[in-house]
Amino acid sequence: MAVKNILRMGHPLLLETAASVKEFNTPTLNALVDDMFDTMGVESGVGLAAPQIGISQRVIVFGLKENQRYPDIQPIPMTVLVNPEIEPLGDEMESGWEGCLSLPGMRGLVPRYRQIRYRGFDQKGNQIEREVEGFHARVVQHEVDHLDGILYPRRIKDMRMFGFEQELEQHQLETSSLNTPESNS
Ligand code: NI
Repeated sequence: MAVKNILRMGHPLLLETAASVKEFNTPTLNALVDDMFDTMGVESGVGLAAPQIGISQRVIVFGLKENQRYPDIQPIPMTVLVNPEIEPLGDEMESGWEGCLSLPGMRGLVPRYRQIRYRGFDQKGNQIEREVEGFHARVVQHEVDHLDGILYPRRIKDMRMFGFEQELEQHQLETSSLNTPESNS
């Protein structure tokens, strides 16, 4: 287990389409998952994708513990999702502020599907399927984008809603939605 360096925007690996995992419960995969949780924990992230630590494989981790400071945010179970697939449930989109550990200090307003179903496997190969909405759905869409070489700035519709978190907090009119638990992922 180890805390890994996080690649930042500009590194070409973040633009690659990551490869599907073929074998489950291998020492390599289990070590990767441990490293990802360690790294996410140190960085106080809500999610992390394997390419962010330089491994171009379709593995994401995410989760959010209950937090009394943010009673409106539903907790998200600590989850490993290998070879994830997303299916939007309906076409309703919702805009929310996102950050990313690969763009430290920045935030952008990103539209995402409000409700999705996602499927995948844990690292042992057990199937996972959930229907989720809101922040949970947003985090998974953000992480799966990483596996397809997409960083959130490409999803921003109005580039005026993109900037440094400190400036946005000081000057933006609608800062309330910035005040979500470490929306870095
Ligand atoms: Ni990210």
